[in-house]
Amino acid sequence: MTFAIIVHGGAGEVAPDSLDARKQGCRVAAEAGAVILRRGGSALDAAQASVEVLENNPLFNAGTGSTLNREGRVESDAAIMDGSTLKAGAVAAVSGIRNPIRLARAVMERSPHILLAGEGAHRFAQQHNIETCNPEELVVPEQRSHWEKEHGTVGAVALDAEGRMAAATSTGGIFDKLPGRVGDTPLIGCGTFADTHAAVSCTGSGEDIIRTTLARHAAYLVAQDLDAVTAAKQAIAYFAAHTQGDAGIILKSRKGELGYARNSLYMPVCALGFSEDLILDA
Ligand code: GLY
Repeated sequence: MTFAIIVHGGAGEVAPDSLDARKQGCRVAAEAGAVILRRGGSALDAAQASVEVLENNPLFNAGTGSTLNREGRVESDAAIMDGSTLKAGAVAAVSGIRNPIRLARAVMERSPHILLAGEGAHRFAQQHNIETCNPEELVVPEQRSHWEKEHGTVGAVALDAEGRMAAATSTGGIFDKLPGRVGDTPLIGCGTFADTHAAVSCTGSGEDIIRTTLARHAAYLVAQDLDAVTAAKQAIAYFAAHTQGDAGIILKSRKGELGYARNSLYMPVCALGFSEDLILDA
């Protein structure tokens, strides 16, 4: 068994002149995860590391650069899941957290819960030395002027040398959302899921992804012995048949196969591992 990691930078419409930079951002993020896997590190650490890089890149709708809610504030959602143990951690509608995926990991490892929201999640961050910041520091000028229309969300799924899989997803959600709105990303089985069959991260119209429990649906298809490419495509076909939304999905199967699919216009994706480095799509 060898390692592999695949990351996505969000489904949706983006300014065409930002596509190359987004592809490059995905490559840098995938490399951050691959470094950990090459050293024998865990899929969980690798998926988290890749998502942190994307959260720190203002081009992407997660962490710094997140889209704004109706009150002009960033509210973040994130989740992480270890497929080998089914342990998961998530945060919803949190403000002033520089790396929400780090907080999700802390919820998984340092609390008896899976999902913490809002003010309680913020207090948990302070108690566990997860970096907090002035919420304004996460706002970039492009989001203030909202020159592009996108759903965004970032995610990574990884397979480590011991055959363990993990998924991590982080987002600022959707532009102009009501304060307190929670999307698919932190809901296990909707935007994020991992078990011993597959690890899955989704992006796109959150309410529609929740309706179709898209990540769990894709993992179930892999468990039914579909290959990863077919499972990703069938999951997106199911999504498109039952909703008006757009979405993208990345997944790794226990066999090490890589799958991705989308019905959105764009979804930058980068995969590293095995013998080849691939930038698959934009
Ligand atoms: N998929 C991100 C969201 O709708 O919040």
